[in-house]
Amino acid sequence: MIRSAVRGIGRALPERAMSNAEFETIVETSDEWIVQRTGIRQRYIANENETTASLGEAAARNALDSAGLTPADIDLIVLATSTPNNTFPATAVEIQHRLGMHHGAAFDVQAVCTGFIYAITTADLYIRGGMARRVLVIGAETFSRILDWTDRTTCVLFGDGAGAVVLEAVEGVGLTSDTGILAAKLRSDGDHREKLYVDGGPSSTQTVGHLRMQGREVFKHAVGMITDVIEDSFSVAGITSDQIDWFVPHQANRRIIDASARKLGIPGDKVVMTVDRHGNTSAASVPLALSVAVEDGRIKSGDLILLEAMGGGFTWGAVLLRW
Ligand code: UT7
Repeated sequence: MIRSAVRGIGRALPERAMSNAEFETIVETSDEWIVQRTGIRQRYIANENETTASLGEAAARNALDSAGLTPADIDLIVLATSTPNNTFPATAVEIQHRLGMHHGAAFDVQAVCTGFIYAITTADLYIRGGMARRVLVIGAETFSRILDWTDRTTCVLFGDGAGAVVLEAVEGVGLTSDTGILAAKLRSDGDHREKLYVDGGPSSTQTVGHLRMQGREVFKHAVGMITDVIEDSFSVAGITSDQIDWFVPHQANRRIIDASARKLGIPGDKVVMTVDRHGNTSAASVPLALSVAVEDGRIKSGDLILLEAMGGGFTWGAVLLRW
């Protein structure tokens, strides 16, 4: 059977890191509150020349380099983003142009913080369905552009960045020892759409709008939703949590990550945590964290990896893959 394996990975961050201390001069907050409630110490903020497309392109080029491939080898680009350069065309098409690609296809996927999980699951289906052999899957965001910089309950939480993987068709035998994606589960429930949303859009207000979040409400649902969808993915794959080598969760809040890992019985030394350095980068957070753990040598060939995310919609999902 065909499996989708990760052949290359890359990331890109804006030049400027912004510390918690800098927020103390903008809104009524403190480094102590931010660290204690979220685990965030700094995040990266795009300058006027850095966009979702430019960060996505840079991450994509790094992923292609690490795979030893060029844009000519790619059949499809799937970009997860909620902060596109323009309402249309899809920012994936802008990245396709920047990569000098005139073949294949490119489109955006919009599932907010769960975007990368939706995008890699979509790419996996294209590969297993035989419509693509190699897919560039990118998560790229510039959430700084949709933040209300006077709202301390949201502006301290988010950052900008991009991560990308090259997924490639490989032969598997249908066992959990196969390399590549072993299981994926996606969920959404629009009843929760007003707990985390942007108060603008082309068809409603004709403005871009700002991010609004009832943080405590999101927090209340997060751990249960995350662990439920992960357990669904375990039962699809026939895997138990003690078999996981690395848990690479969405990086929104250290307390949510710790509580989810505890509930699943995954020890802290198997959890990849980058929320301290990156803040919440929405659809970029999982591939950014993955790329850090691959680069520093924690994730090795053959490791069983659990990816997870939850965000606006609500959307949530999990992917199990063997590196
Ligand atoms: O990625 C998509 C998914 N998003 C998430 O997963 C976010 C989920 N939510 C969270 O991570 C947390 O709810 C937050 C980090 C957003 C907030 O933490 P919390 O422990 O739930 O705090 P809270 O909202 O209950 O607020 C506690 C207090 C409030 O003051 P009062 O009402 O107790 O007087 C807030 O006004 O903290 C206050 N507060 C702040 N204080 C200093 C809120 N933001 C700040 C701030 N600095 N930046």
